[in-house]
Amino acid sequence: MIDLMRALVSRTFYLPIALLVAISIGIATYNRNASSPIAENDAAHVPTAPGGDSVAGQVPVATNPSAPTLVGRKVCGECHAENYQRHSQHGHAQTFHDVADTDLVAKFAGKQFDAGEGYGTYQYQSDSAGKLFVTLESQFGDEPFPLPYALGSGQHAQTMLTLVPGLDGQTEGIEHRVSCYADDRIALTPGHSKKKPRSTFEFFGDASRGQPLQRCIYCHTTRGAVVGETVQDLIANVNCEKCHGAGSEHVRLARINGKPPPYSIGEESWDTESELQLCGDCHRLPRSVTEKEIREYPDLLVRFQPIGLLRSRCYLESNRELKCTTCHNPHLTIQELDRTDHVRDCLRCHESGKEAHVACPVEPKTGCIECHMPAIETDQGLSFHDHWIRVRED
Ligand code: HEC
Ligand code: HEC
Ligand code: HEC
Ligand code: HEC
Ligand code: HEC
Ligand code: HEC
Ligand code: HEC
Repeated sequence: MIDLMRALVSRTFYLPIALLVAISIGIATYNRNASSPIAENDAAHVPTAPGGDSVAGQVPVATNPSAPTLVGRKVCGECHAENYQRHSQHGHAQTFHDVADTDLVAKFAGKQFDAGEGYGTYQYQSDSAGKLFVTLESQFGDEPFPLPYALGSGQHAQTMLTLVPGLDGQTEGIEHRVSCYADDRIALTPGHSKKKPRSTFEFFGDASRGQPLQRCIYCHTTRGAVVGETVQDLIANVNCEKCHGAGSEHVRLARINGKPPPYSIGEESWDTESELQLCGDCHRLPRSVTEKEIREYPDLLVRFQPIGLLRSRCYLESNRELKCTTCHNPHLTIQELDRTDHVRDCLRCHESGKEAHVACPVEPKTGCIECHMPAIETDQGLSFHDHWIRVRED
């Protein structure tokens, strides 16, 4: 594997100058790449609670001895058993993996996939340690390229990520060109159909580095940083303390007399907008997309629920009542809900006879979601519910 890395790196030295220029342009424009649904172009942003505690989880390094530290979700589960159980079933709790710990090895090993014109045919194989590799014979003979990490719970899809040393020594993250979808379908990763390899490594997928690469890890983990070819200090998945902040002080005080002082969402300053900042930090806020996208609201934006919600009259005209947790228990996966739960959420405000808000003149009791926030297909059969709740023209 190390040999392959070296071989690939040294190969890149032989790339023609024009391609090198293209690589650096590619890197420079990565941030503005609006065609990829997971391209991210906002600066890292950590909403802060009073006292400077980070809310969205970029937990401060413990330079201050009294600063709270991470205790891990099991400890939270000792006293909050129900949220612990629920969270275990949520996509948040299973969105970052070692490929060797998943069934992706069994799903891919021995299979071939035609990666399309300009790429060639991938051949997948595993070794005795249960690690997964891919080869691309037309370009690199039988040299295996490792596929060590997988992102995604599989509810929608899982995509593999490889960390490799770039030309200048900076790490590049290669998001594999092929993903496994919910029905075990193996197909191109969302957003990859129009891509072309801009460097040697990009024969295996899309490269990112620097801040966008760190953000990829940030959004899918509780803690972790890309150092060299691994993720260090890793706490995989979006756990309790990613949202609530480091909990050691809360736990210590709760153990003393069972009446801990306000913590996280218990703080007086916690309001609708704090929550939208928290969820929007990963599910995206308007600052994450281009001006053109904000103006035109293309279908791809339905993937970014907060952006839609912030346009809705339900949010704008409800006097700060409507937020994500009006309809989502943040610990309970949507798989556990059915349509009647959602209709009930709408009727909290829109029931006929309630004076504060209007009721639907077309269908006042059922079917709200299908007509006012339908699922819209984006790419590769994935679909997302349009959170711009509105009377639609179509
Ligand atoms: C030793 C028991 C204990 C442990 C362990 C514990 N909590 Fe709590 N937690 C409590 C108690 C007691 C309350 C107050 C409940 C109440 O007043 O209804 C509370 C309240 C909360 C609240 C509500 C906000 C507030 O200010 O009241 C949140 C959020 C919370 N805990 C999160 C966590 C997280 C995250 C962890 C793990 C880092 C954790 N708790 C670990 C006992 C515990
Ligand atoms: C640290 C980043 C992060 C934060 C903060 C975050 N999410 Fe997520 N969320 C994710 C990721 C990543 C996934 C994809 C999980 C997967 O792999 O399927 C996800 C998936 C979801 C899902 C669908 C999966 C399921 O099982 O239901 C819902 C609903 C959701 N988030 C709601 C929220 C809400 C509400 C908030 C705020 C209270 C929030 N998220 C905050 C990263 C985050
Ligand atoms: C700004 C935060 C953010 C960044 C950066 C980010 N993701 Fe995600 N990712 C999410 C959220 C939120 C979801 C859940 C989307 C949903 O269900 O609405 C998600 C979902 C996914 C999924 C599940 C399938 C899907 O398309 O919904 C995969 C796979 C994934 N991300 C891979 C990656 C990879 C690989 C990178 C980096 C190269 C990355 N993500 C960067 C926040 C992020
Ligand atoms: C995606 C972000 C997110 C994650 C992950 C998360 N929470 Fe929460 N949690 C919230 C939000 C937001 C609220 C406030 C909900 C509201 O206002 O209705 C909350 C409320 C709570 C509360 C008080 C209300 C209640 O439900 O009892 C407790 C306790 C709590 N969380 C514990 C936990 C524990 C324990 C975990 C991990 C097993 C966890 N949370 C994971 C976002 C999160
Ligand atoms: C008015 C109700 C409502 C509000 C408010 C709301 N959602 Fe949703 N959300 C839904 C419904 C309904 C679904 C579809 C659930 C299903 O398929 O069972 C959904 C689905 C999702 C999903 C799964 C992927 C998708 O788009 O289908 C995510 C992630 C999500 N919401 C995140 C959020 C976040 C983050 C917020 C806050 C910015 C939010 N939601 C606010 C009703 C709401
Ligand atoms: C917290 C209260 C609240 C909730 C919950 C809520 N809405 Fe609204 N909604 C409003 C307000 C306020 C308006 C502005 C008109 C009014 O006052 O009734 C509005 C307006 C609307 C409109 C008219 C938008 C337009 O384009 O003119 C539709 C459609 C709508 N809501 C559907 C829904 C659906 C469907 C749900 C559930 C998924 C929902 N709402 C949940 C408060 C809410
Ligand atoms: C078959 C599709 C359909 C279903 C189902 C449906 N709506 Fe509507 N809704 C509409 C249409 C179309 C309009 C616009 C009517 C008009 O302007 O005459 C509308 C209008 C509205 C309005 C704005 C009313 C106003 O006076 O501005 C609200 C609020 C609303 N719906 C909420 C809901 C809720 C809540 C549900 C579920 C209980 C629901 N709708 C179910 C199609 C539907």
